[in-house]
Amino acid sequence: MLMIRAEEPRDRAAVFRVNELAFGRPGEAQLVDALRGGAQPTLSLVAEQDGQVVGHIFFSPVTIESSAGNQTALGLAPMAVLPERQRQGIGSQLVRAGLDGCRQLGQPAVVVLGHPEFYPKFGFVPASGFGLRCEYPVPDDVFMALELSPGALAGRQGLVKYGPEFAKL
Ligand SMILES: CC(C)(COP(=O)(O)OP(=O)(O)OC[C@H]1O[C@@H](n2cnc3c(N)ncnc32)[C@H](O)[C@@H]1OP(=O)(O)O)[C@@H](O)C(=O)NCCC(=O)NCCS
Repeated sequence: MLMIRAEEPRDRAAVFRVNELAFGRPGEAQLVDALRGGAQPTLSLVAEQDGQVVGHIFFSPVTIESSAGNQTALGLAPMAVLPERQRQGIGSQLVRAGLDGCRQLGQPAVVVLGHPEFYPKFGFVPASGFGLRCEYPVPDDVFMALELSPGALAGRQGLVKYGPEFAKL
């Protein structure tokens, strides 16, 4: 049985392992450790199957710098599912539960830098449609945004900045 739940302190090593195996390098796992200590608010969920952590999703603040002033939203990053458990719907359940959690935190919007085949099914669209630019030079379709309430990004066009922890990736 698969369960999506909030990450607890005892999950830390397993979360590191899931990220390291999914990405094939330790950078994203180390990023999660750095963000846990420094960013506020964060949302961290795990997918547990038969007592084992098989997936993880993390959200931390980004700043939208616009002429209307700065606004905080959440960035979805990273997310990971153990290689042998991918393409079984686990990642999708993590995204859906994560977005619900972001809504409960009262956040206006979520941005993500990732696979353009995966995120649109949850409502993500190219962030450029909201006039948002990514601070990193990336193709238009990989930087996506989702309003958690209608119109939350209206008039907020500008540059999206990730936390300083991301610069090390
Ligand atoms: C991306 C990821 C979290 C998806 O988790 P998942 O449990 O496999 O996702 P689901 O089973 O719910 O959905 C599968 C869909 O994800 C997408 N997907 C999965 N793996 C993918 C990959 N390596 N590249 C591109 N898209 C991928 C596909 O659209 C796939 O749909 P399909 O099976 O119909 O082709 C997982 O593949 C993963 O951990 N990948 C390695 C790390 C990573 O890239 N993280 C995301 C960074 S944005």
